[in-house]
Amino acid sequence: MTKTVLITGAAGGLGHSLEQRLSDKGWQLALVSRDSDRLQSLDRGGTALYLTGDVSTAQGAEQIITECVERWGHPPEALAHCAGSTLIVPLHRTPEEQYRACLAANLDSAFYTLKAWIQACLHHKQGGTAVLVSSVAARIGVINHEAIATAKAAVEGLARSAAATYASHGIRVNAIAPGLLRSPATERLFMGGKAEAQIAAQYPLGRYGSTEDAAAAMAWLLSDEAQWITGQILPVDGGFSASRPLVR
Ligand SMILES: NC(=O)c1ccc[n+]([C@@H]2O[C@H](COP(=O)([O-])OP(=O)(O)OC[C@H]3O[C@@H](n4cnc5c(N)ncnc54)[C@H](OP(=O)(O)O)[C@@H]3O)[C@@H](O)[C@H]2O)c1
Repeated sequence: MTKTVLITGAAGGLGHSLEQRLSDKGWQLALVSRDSDRLQSLDRGGTALYLTGDVSTAQGAEQIITECVERWGHPPEALAHCAGSTLIVPLHRTPEEQYRACLAANLDSAFYTLKAWIQACLHHKQGGTAVLVSSVAARIGVINHEAIATAKAAVEGLARSAAATYASHGIRVNAIAPGLLRSPATERLFMGGKAEAQIAAQYPLGRYGSTEDAAAAMAWLLSDEAQWITGQILPVDGGFSASRPLVR
């Protein structure tokens, strides 16, 4: 049976890698962006749903789920919540506006999307599996990451609590916690390649991540191979959060 998956942030670096991977595995896709032009560029043909909306609002998230149910007759069996942002700025220089935007993009979007999806699953008496996206910064102190660490730590709490609440309904909720993934969103950190070696050296496995690394972990958590796993936060970080790199 073809399975259905809703991917938020689908036009972003991670979302795009995941939608390619799941499309190749035969999943039926619902792809979300706030920008319809960005969605069209994904071009997955007639079988995909292209949904324009802002899942960082309760109304936006509910609308997206409603559109999936209208089209498929049931909620997506899987939710991959890739919408989010990155913010690297020290606490004392974080303007309130940037902090609120960071919470909206990372925490509100996860909360409202997961809530709307679970409500629909309960209504349709349907199980399913969701994967949220945290960050290494929620698990280990990384300088200048206070706002994003706050948001992502809350996302991890959300995943664990929802996993506990809805396990008996056949709903699994997990998250991944990536280290730095090279993508258009993070390209400026590489300073035109000048910082590449320095960034790679921070990771015990000797390289920074790719969006494919994170998408592979998400796809596995969504798959039936992970059907006895819920409430877990899977680090995808080249060993960053688990070991101290050798300092020469
Ligand atoms: N890249 C990394 O190094 C890294 C590391 C750790 C964790 N992460 C997390 O991984 C996820 C994907 O990151 P990425 O590198 O793929 O970033 P990305 O390319 O910027 O993609 C994220 C997408 O999220 C959507 N989005 C951003 N702000 C939003 C908001 N306020 N409301 C709704 N949607 C919003 C955007 O989609 P539209 O503009 O199309 O709507 C954007 O394309 C994020 O949660 C990020 O925090 C990334």
